[in-house]
Amino acid sequence: MKTAIILASSREHGNTQQLANLYMEHQPCDLFNLTDYSISVFDYQHRNQHDDFLGLINTLVEYDHLVFATPVYWYSMSAQLKIFIDRLSDLLTIEKKLGRTLKGKSCSILATGADNEVPECFVAAFKLTANYFGIKFTSTFYCSCEDDFIVQEHVNNLTTYLAMECSNGARQTQKIIE
Ligand SMILES: Cc1cc2nc3c(=O)[nH]c(=O)nc-3n(C[C@H](O)[C@H](O)[C@H](O)COP(=O)(O)O)c2cc1C
Repeated sequence: MKTAIILASSREHGNTQQLANLYMEHQPCDLFNLTDYSISVFDYQHRNQHDDFLGLINTLVEYDHLVFATPVYWYSMSAQLKIFIDRLSDLLTIEKKLGRTLKGKSCSILATGADNEVPECFVAAFKLTANYFGIKFTSTFYCSCEDDFIVQEHVNNLTTYLAMECSNGARQTQKIIE
């Protein structure tokens, strides 16, 4: 199962990027950092259809599982990720055929935040959006970071989480398939 992480943080090498890096050490996947792409806000007239969004989504549809990696910013996803998610609306209008290819994929969340628990409203936006596109939402892995991301505090939970994700049948790692 091919997995892609879509990283969307305002801080280079910040907590979320470090979590994504740790995830990649335990799960074969490719990372796409939204910072590397020029994607503008949704436009009803689609005047931005030549920015990087369609190129990126054409690449991402080659993957079976999409991992959205974002910090919690004001109880919500990062602005970068919200812009990306808003642009999925292009797949309901000018790129319907491409949009239909999302159906049957799965997705999950990797998130970091300062609070002890991830807000329900934060997760709900992903679940409802995935459902709208026919994407199966599998799970959330949240790391509470008082300050910096400390690998030792999260690595055991992450490996347990990944093992559960795979044994639930929600996903299979390439290692299992090989
Ligand atoms: C603009 C902003 C808003 C934030 N809002 C929240 C919040 O609502 N809940 C929370 O738990 N942490 C919040 N935090 C803390 C970050 O989620 C936390 O520090 C996170 O690990 C930062 O990840 P990053 O290094 O990838 O940016 C906020 C931080 C910033 C900069």
